[in-house]
Amino acid sequence: MEWIATASFGLEGVVKRELQDLGLTAQPVNGGVRFEGTPEDAFRANLWLRCADRVLMIVGEGEATSFEALFEMIRALPWENWLPKDARFPVTGQCARSQLMSVRDVQAISKKAVAERLKQRYKTDWMAETGAEYAIHIAIHQNQVRVTLDASGDALNRRGYRTWNGEAPLRETLAAALVVLSPWRPGQPLHDPCCGTGTILIEAAFRRANRAPGLTRSFAMEQWHFAQADQCRRIREEAQGLFDPRLVEGITGSDVDPQALALCEKHLRQAGLQGRVRVYEKDLRDLPPFAPDTCVITNPPYGERLGGKKEAETLYRQMRKLETQSHAGRVCVLTANPAFERLYGKRATKKRRLYNGRLECEYLIF
Ligand SMILES: C[S@@+](CC[C@H](N)C(=O)[O-])C[C@H]1O[C@@H](n2cnc3c(N)ncnc32)[C@H](O)[C@@H]1O
Repeated sequence: MEWIATASFGLEGVVKRELQDLGLTAQPVNGGVRFEGTPEDAFRANLWLRCADRVLMIVGEGEATSFEALFEMIRALPWENWLPKDARFPVTGQCARSQLMSVRDVQAISKKAVAERLKQRYKTDWMAETGAEYAIHIAIHQNQVRVTLDASGDALNRRGYRTWNGEAPLRETLAAALVVLSPWRPGQPLHDPCCGTGTILIEAAFRRANRAPGLTRSFAMEQWHFAQADQCRRIREEAQGLFDPRLVEGITGSDVDPQALALCEKHLRQAGLQGRVRVYEKDLRDLPPFAPDTCVITNPPYGERLGGKKEAETLYRQMRKLETQSHAGRVCVLTANPAFERLYGKRATKKRRLYNGRLECEYLIF
């Protein structure tokens, strides 16, 4: 069976390596990374991928430049192999640079095509849709149609430890990628001086403690009749056995905002890392020196609040001090400000364009 682990722009290579680490052969494609495997492999990918957005099962692919062609293509797919008689099958769509650009029509026509096929095969004139969910996604890019089933359910960044606070925080998948792409190696000290609600710290600690990011959440495919529930349970138990929070040492964070820190403590508790990661209130300009060989990974304020830009830029100028504090260790910064290097007063040794949601950012390693 063929699957695709979707990933945000710039992270395809990272996700490819993650899949290879799971023993899978992976190939980057537009919007993600394809891999072949059994439902158990896909379940393992859901559980362990730190930087991917979703795992989708590829049901079919083809070309369509008219709604008739789309209908026929989708009706011809062997839906009865995957969807039981009572399956719920919501359809979502996405169109780019194609002849068919109405997402609403693509959804309605695809839904009708699947329903017709299933009604004929199950010899019924009504699909009750009362059972497990098999969410269908139709992606059309340059007239090429990819039909998939969403094996994840909630997006993979929803690890289950975050309490929504109304702010747009750093996405967990991106925080995990900042850790993977940094020179930090598990065992080395790490500090985030603008830790906010703790996403970078938690993702680093998960990696250090061999904690599968999806350990305590469920995935849509666990309800699928062809994904064996006992196998999924066994894979989850195996992952549970590998999680060792005692391995987390030397991961620390600080921030000026006590409310963010209170939320950070809560997230640490909810992530099973209570007492393992030390966080404290401090302006980054007043931080004491770090332990030798500390790697700094941080996402300083963007300065989007009124009058915040100037304030943020003054802070960027003062961040250079972090290099001395970490005894000339590495400083890694995710920023959406194109002038960061100038303000910091140094050129980054490595740079990478990444996205925090829709916000274009640069990941700079000094
Ligand atoms: C973009 S947010 C970081 C979000 C964080 N990565 C998370 O997961 O929630 C920037 C953080 O920098 C903090 N901050 C702003 N000025 C600071 C300063 N002078 N010293 C330390 N922290 C500061 C803010 O309180 C905020 O939590």
